[in-house]
Amino acid sequence: MAKKNLIVFGTRPEAIKMAPLVKAFSSNENFITKVCVTGQHREMLDQVLKFFDIKPDYDMNLMKKGQNLYNLTADIITGLKPILENFRPDYVYVHGDTTTTMSASIASFYSGAKVCHVEAGLRTFNKKAPFPEEINRTIAGHIADYHFAPTQNSFNNLIREGIPDSNILISGNTVIDALVQSVEKVDKMNDEEIEALKNEIDFTKRIILVTGHRRENHGEGFIRICEALKEIGDAEENVQIIYPVHLNPKVQKPVYEILGNAKSIKLIGPLAYPAFVWLMNKTEIVITDSGGVQEEAPSLGKPVLVMRDTTERPEAVDAGTVILVGTDKKKIVDQTLRLLNNDELYKKMSKLHNPYGDGNACNRIVGFMENMALP
Ligand code: UD1
Ligand code: UDP
Repeated sequence: MAKKNLIVFGTRPEAIKMAPLVKAFSSNENFITKVCVTGQHREMLDQVLKFFDIKPDYDMNLMKKGQNLYNLTADIITGLKPILENFRPDYVYVHGDTTTTMSASIASFYSGAKVCHVEAGLRTFNKKAPFPEEINRTIAGHIADYHFAPTQNSFNNLIREGIPDSNILISGNTVIDALVQSVEKVDKMNDEEIEALKNEIDFTKRIILVTGHRRENHGEGFIRICEALKEIGDAEENVQIIYPVHLNPKVQKPVYEILGNAKSIKLIGPLAYPAFVWLMNKTEIVITDSGGVQEEAPSLGKPVLVMRDTTERPEAVDAGTVILVGTDKKKIVDQTLRLLNNDELYKKMSKLHNPYGDGNACNRIVGFMENMALP
């Protein structure tokens, strides 16, 4: 008998990282797989659904402008109830550490379904960084029955929390599956957004790509980040900083206010995934507080400055291709200028490596679930 899967996600990064898993399960006759999006994100989620050609079976369409964690959490849990009761999945797959992840795992547990956590075991061991993601993934990890850990390090974290090793698979991160599948496509496709970037960006300049959105950086942190970027743009004639700005109003406001007219800085809307991957490939340095970008950039051989004090992804820091700079203005400026002006350091940090996966994570996850007896 086919096993019934419900794959639930809600934000841009979850969608990118779940898309290859949706494809892998949907083409396997041992499973009946449905997709439910909470719509925690809207425009940024739809960009991903379009590129990967995923048509959700259920769309809860929950996003509200300037939403808060309390309502979002409650809406996801109560909104999932009829969907779980109607489809009655054997397994629910959640991803990573968002409010969708945490709330969907609780709702699925209530329904009696087994919970499978993709990108399990990442920890900073600091409740407030990233906020609220560290707690979201810890809760999801305690609820989950099966854990797909991307690396040995994330496996070790789960073992330390008492999860039996038979319930954990070191799968690699599905973000690399998505990246590998997309890098090939991006080169061949005729994409309007990529064509527009070719016209708008001066590629004779040295490109720095920036993204940022973390809640713990909202307020003072973002002001310091923007001031640092402004200083870099002013100091370096031959640099072009490209910043696709996240749609969260708490990010948009300071970024457009401080950097709207800054020299050498180009603010654009969030790019669809193929255009973002294309641009990352053309970039000299990546500055980000994003989780996913920290994983993708080393696979493309791009050095990353991470605007956080701590990371749950220590593998690339240990390999020397990622440096943590926090939201300290001086550190961001100094490390960027060092990377721009020190060839040896640049070479060391632009080593191409794949600490987070080899592009086969989804096959491993599907194989693991194929061998599982029905609950
Ligand atoms: C969320 C996740 C975070 C993840 C990030 C990825 C939580 C608590 N936060 O943060 O873990 O790293 O997504 O980007 O789960 N907005 C839009 N359109 C969109 C998306 C967002 O307008 O397509 C605006 C809305 O005003 C929305 C606000 O951004 O209310 C915040 O969205 P939310 O998902 O609550 O937080 P993020 O900062 O996006
Ligand atoms: N990304 C994108 N367009 C952009 C910026 C990022 O498609 O303009 C992709 C990026 O390739 C990565 C993911 O979005 O896969 C990261 O999402 P985000 O930084 O919003 O969330 P996080 O990974 O920090 O949870």
